[in-house]
Amino acid sequence: MSSKKTILCIGAGYVGGPTMAMIALKNPDYKVTVVDINADRINAWNSDNLPIYEPNLLDVVKKVRGKNLFFSTDVTLGIKDSYIIFVSVNTPTKNFGHGAGYAADLQFWEKTARQILHSSDENKIIIEKSTLPVRTAEAMESILNFNEKGISFDVLSNPEFLAEGTAIKDLENPDRVLIGSRETESGRRAREEIVKIYSSWVSEEQILTSNVWSTELSKLTANAFLAQRISSINSISAICEKTEADVDEVARAVGTDSRIGAKFLKASVGFGGSCFKKDILNLVYLSRHYGLSEVGDYWESVVKMNEYQEKRFVLNMLKEMFNTISGKRIAIFGFAFKADTGDIRESPAIYIVKTLLEEMANVVITDPQAINNAKIELGETLDDKVSYCTDPYEAANNAHAIAILTEWDIYKKLDYKAILQTMQKPAFIFDGRNILNHKELFKLGYNVTPIGKPSLRHF
Ligand SMILES: NC(=O)c1ccc[n+]([C@@H]2O[C@H](COP(=O)([O-])OP(=O)(O)OC[C@H]3O[C@@H](n4cnc5c(N)ncnc54)[C@H](O)[C@@H]3O)[C@@H](O)[C@H]2O)c1
Repeated sequence: MSSKKTILCIGAGYVGGPTMAMIALKNPDYKVTVVDINADRINAWNSDNLPIYEPNLLDVVKKVRGKNLFFSTDVTLGIKDSYIIFVSVNTPTKNFGHGAGYAADLQFWEKTARQILHSSDENKIIIEKSTLPVRTAEAMESILNFNEKGISFDVLSNPEFLAEGTAIKDLENPDRVLIGSRETESGRRAREEIVKIYSSWVSEEQILTSNVWSTELSKLTANAFLAQRISSINSISAICEKTEADVDEVARAVGTDSRIGAKFLKASVGFGGSCFKKDILNLVYLSRHYGLSEVGDYWESVVKMNEYQEKRFVLNMLKEMFNTISGKRIAIFGFAFKADTGDIRESPAIYIVKTLLEEMANVVITDPQAINNAKIELGETLDDKVSYCTDPYEAANNAHAIAILTEWDIYKKLDYKAILQTMQKPAFIFDGRNILNHKELFKLGYNVTPIGKPSLRHF
């Protein structure tokens, strides 16, 4: 019989790896194993070259790896040996059949459920860590509990709220931890087991328990609200560009209203990441599934506004550069969807670079962490039009324009005077994150196009 202090996480990705490293660090008396079908990923987790970049992640992993944290490809053994099983596999948007483009693709999820059942010979607690449609726990329960083995499973929901780039900080000091369970005797007992794990470092007031359907819906809602704030301020940025208002000033004025708050009010080229778009589309699907078409349309507009913002950025580039960028070298500063991560999933840079290539530009991409992922995303097809380099100075050399697409700190500190000397003239900067000092750049001689404020031109 497996000890109650054995934890397994299925899925060693951006969530599974860091989350389990933190749980292992804070609970030295538990044995935590993370398994994945991807052997390369597991090998990387067992090396000093982790498969994902997160500030301070390596330090945490090194403290516990080999002591009470283990990475393995043996999913079957992992299931057999563990009492508590977190499932953190990917749940992308379905791209085929009914619900294509909106619903969550639950194939990895269901396979995992069947594998858990196949490899279990005693009762276990299963925890949804992945973000899932409401009532997925019910489907999982059906698969697991209709068995002839005489064993039973409690399925709980414990969605993850970490943000990439600040995962360790977020895990160490979460705003709250959400644990949803059935209100049955065994559901409550299972919930207590999970509360015990988190309470070794999270205060009791921050551990919110609720019914499992509320927990599932809360995660989708939280992501939808965050993305909605970005789309809201981005919609205002378009008005600012027409009226000479300044979106950063408007955001400051609006954000100091304590009822609204300042976070997530930064206008930009658009939001990215693996979660926002997929989770909103999931909410849209769910709404329409229940016949709530107005609710679905409302949330879908958040995604449409984001796509509009990306498109507008490229159109502004074209307009500023005399309606042609064919043959022009454009340096892309940042390909990751946000700073401090190498993750490029749904990054606005993908659409922007592809559109620039359609306009026959020569694109050179620089990024401190995301170059390998960018190469995989863009593939070989347009090889002669795209190049990559880690040094931003080299990327800008001989370029007609720089486009800032990720808010990496290093881009704020570059010697733009020296860069200008190496660029084609007139030289353009398109600041898709509003992180640079636009007036200073203009004084140096650049033509500057920020988001949500007038362009500064020398002609
Ligand atoms: N990335 C984030 O910032 C974030 C934040 C909160 C929640 N989430 C949610 O967490 C979930 C995981 O996201 P992620 O970014 O870690 O995904 P990911 O793609 O980085 O990792 C998922 C891992 O699961 C593995 N996997 C798939 N099927 C498997 C199986 N049957 N057995 C073993 N391993 C299997 C894959 O090989 C992959 O390594 C998603 O539902 C996502 O929406 C993500």
